[in-house]
Amino acid sequence: MILVTGGAGFIGANFVLDWLAHVDEAVINVDVLTYAGNRENLASLTGDDRHIFIKGDIADSTLISGLLAQYRPRAIINFAAESHVDRSIHGPEDFIQTNIVGTFRLLEAVRAYWNNLQTEPRQQFRFLHVSTDEVYGSLSKDEPAFTETNRYEPNSPYSASKAASDHLVRAYHHTYCLPVLTTNCSNNYGPYHFPEKLIPLMIVNALADKSLPVYGDGQQIRDWLYVKDHCSAIRRVLEAGRLGEVYNVGGWNEKPNLDIVHTVCALLDELRPRPDNKSYREQISYVTDRPGHDRRYAIDASKIERELGWKPAETFDTGIRKTVQWYLENQEWVANVQSGSYREWVEKNYSGRVA
Ligand code: NAD
Ligand code: TYD
Repeated sequence: MILVTGGAGFIGANFVLDWLAHVDEAVINVDVLTYAGNRENLASLTGDDRHIFIKGDIADSTLISGLLAQYRPRAIINFAAESHVDRSIHGPEDFIQTNIVGTFRLLEAVRAYWNNLQTEPRQQFRFLHVSTDEVYGSLSKDEPAFTETNRYEPNSPYSASKAASDHLVRAYHHTYCLPVLTTNCSNNYGPYHFPEKLIPLMIVNALADKSLPVYGDGQQIRDWLYVKDHCSAIRRVLEAGRLGEVYNVGGWNEKPNLDIVHTVCALLDELRPRPDNKSYREQISYVTDRPGHDRRYAIDASKIERELGWKPAETFDTGIRKTVQWYLENQEWVANVQSGSYREWVEKNYSGRVA
């Protein structure tokens, strides 16, 4: 079996669902269930004994060592993290704790477990660390996309904490020969995306007749990948990635934020027109920019394509249509994630921004 951390969050849950649909191998899913973790994301696995859910923290060494000894996984995939840049600006502490201290404690428990494995399982074992393109910093308009050899230049507390975790993973390979793999992926979108991030926030706000808050001039560029393509890339790296290597994952799909918001509005205009038949674009509001806002991210995914033959299955057009449709068809999920603490977050992040 494999052990996944953070498998009740957006990408982790998609990964667990996809894994069990593609591979008949059990998953132990360790997730502490922060605001971003949601067992409803895994509801379709109820009664499936290939999925074992454990509520727990990656920084809890006793728990993790006990789980490793009990289940003896052949691989670990580390999704667990604090993941939202705006939250890291309001309060970096949790990011340092989970992304740095948590990853460190997890690595220590894994190192002890791996050291005591017999020769063959020891050779087969893998620790795959899921990271982000944000560790490379911000690109100007004409600079080439990030390759795996780009210098780390993280600019937010989130990306700095992910960069630190990447360095720890690298050091555990270099120093202790732990068989690690690291993936640095661009912005994901798709089902189960918590509506604090750009795309689901725009869909949810549009349908609730709220404003669509575009930071600054809306010309910041992100490189978007449908979440299931990220999951297939992780499966492929786990299967065939070279030990100690880093693989950038992306869909060659750079878009300014405003284009993304316009696309979401156009799809909603088509699939769920406003009662007054005006466009959802009417709800766009330009608001105060994010401090230290990275201008552009772009991933050069040639290495994973060349070495592992991985390519995304979705284009942005097909992926974003599926995503908007998913939100329209899952209004109960949408309502359930907008708890009191979600509303508090929205108030904290948006009330101080001038329109
Ligand atoms: P998310 O915030 O939706 O989910 C994170 C999950 O981790 C939640 O279920 C949460 O409960 C869990 N978690 C947090 N702290 C934990 C802890 N201490 N112990 C155990 N579980 C804990 O995040 P996501 O968007 O699914 O991202 C998953 C991973 O992928 C992260 O490492 C993130 O840095 C990386 N990543 C995300 C994106 C993106 O666009 N979302 C892109 C590239 C890389
Ligand atoms: P986000 O989804 O938070 O991902 P990240 O910051 O990790 O790339 O934001 C994507 C882009 O959208 C980013 O440039 C910030 C911008 N943005 C807005 O313009 N308005 C918003 O309300 C949010 C949440 C993000």
